[in-house]
Amino acid sequence: MRREILKRLRKGIYTSGENIAKDLGITRTAVWKYIRNLRKEGYQISSSPRLGYRLEQAPDLLNPEEIQTGLTTHVFGRSIQYHAEVASTQYEAKRLAESNAEEGTLVVAEAQSEGRGRRDRYWVSPPRMGIYLSLILRPDLEPLNIAQIPIVMGIGICESISQVTGLQPRIKWPNDVLLEGKKVAGILVEMSAEPERVHYIILGIGINVNTPVSMFPDNLRSTATSLAEVAGHPVCRRTLVQRLLPNQESIYNEFKRVGFEDLMERWRLWDQTIHSWVEISDASGSFVGYALDIDKDGALIVKDQKDKIRRVLSGDVTLTSELTR
Ligand code: BTN
Repeated sequence: MRREILKRLRKGIYTSGENIAKDLGITRTAVWKYIRNLRKEGYQISSSPRLGYRLEQAPDLLNPEEIQTGLTTHVFGRSIQYHAEVASTQYEAKRLAESNAEEGTLVVAEAQSEGRGRRDRYWVSPPRMGIYLSLILRPDLEPLNIAQIPIVMGIGICESISQVTGLQPRIKWPNDVLLEGKKVAGILVEMSAEPERVHYIILGIGINVNTPVSMFPDNLRSTATSLAEVAGHPVCRRTLVQRLLPNQESIYNEFKRVGFEDLMERWRLWDQTIHSWVEISDASGSFVGYALDIDKDGALIVKDQKDKIRRVLSGDVTLTSELTR
């Protein structure tokens, strides 16, 4: 009902409460109550005693009505579970996937109390500041190829940020998205699989859109940023999600159709890692080397300080300078 009322208010012309009520088979008082609640959510609705109601401005919310209005995808975001606040969209998406939710189902939240990054790090998720979403994917791929998914999905994030803001983000392998050298977005992929078969993948995307740097904990202030911080003005989260979903859908389809190798050139356009000095660290230790390339599996090829070529499949990468050699 709420969605139907919003649809009528969006037409840009005044619509009378009486007509809305008649159209939807509810009372005028019921219409008025919906309008009152919408206003509480931040919808600016003007009313004129003779003409009725008109939507002047929608708030920058990521609810299904806002995301799906004008959304051009076929699968991604066609079904949306929306939360004002949730522990983590990853948990919710996992729950849905376990109960057979279809591919493309989107879980999105205005805030997360336990937002998670890679390696069980915390993902800062204050209300209405960032984009916190998880998509359910069910690719017919071998588990071995799954490691390539977060890499190719980084392309879609960069393209979307660039299209919406004009900023030029860069990717730090495998999929950290940076602006001015600081992290602005990240991807967390979790999956359920058997050795031969993938049941589902949860693709989690976090973007710091309007988050002020003061909201990051002290230890992140020098390494994290937000789009607004770099652009110098607020960025519309809804517009970004509406670009991101079609971009991700098209890259995902292309990846399934042509494979990783054919997307590597597109990844390189945004990459900041190749031909840079890097420090690689994982649970077993760290080393400094020169990033030569990525291979057809998405592994980072690094020449270490003893000129040994190493193939890095996972780990944390810090872009460093030759001086640390
Ligand atoms: C990273 O460490 O770079 C990955 C960050 C992923 C954060 C997103 S926000 C939406 C989804 N829910 C989570 O708890 N994490 C991911």
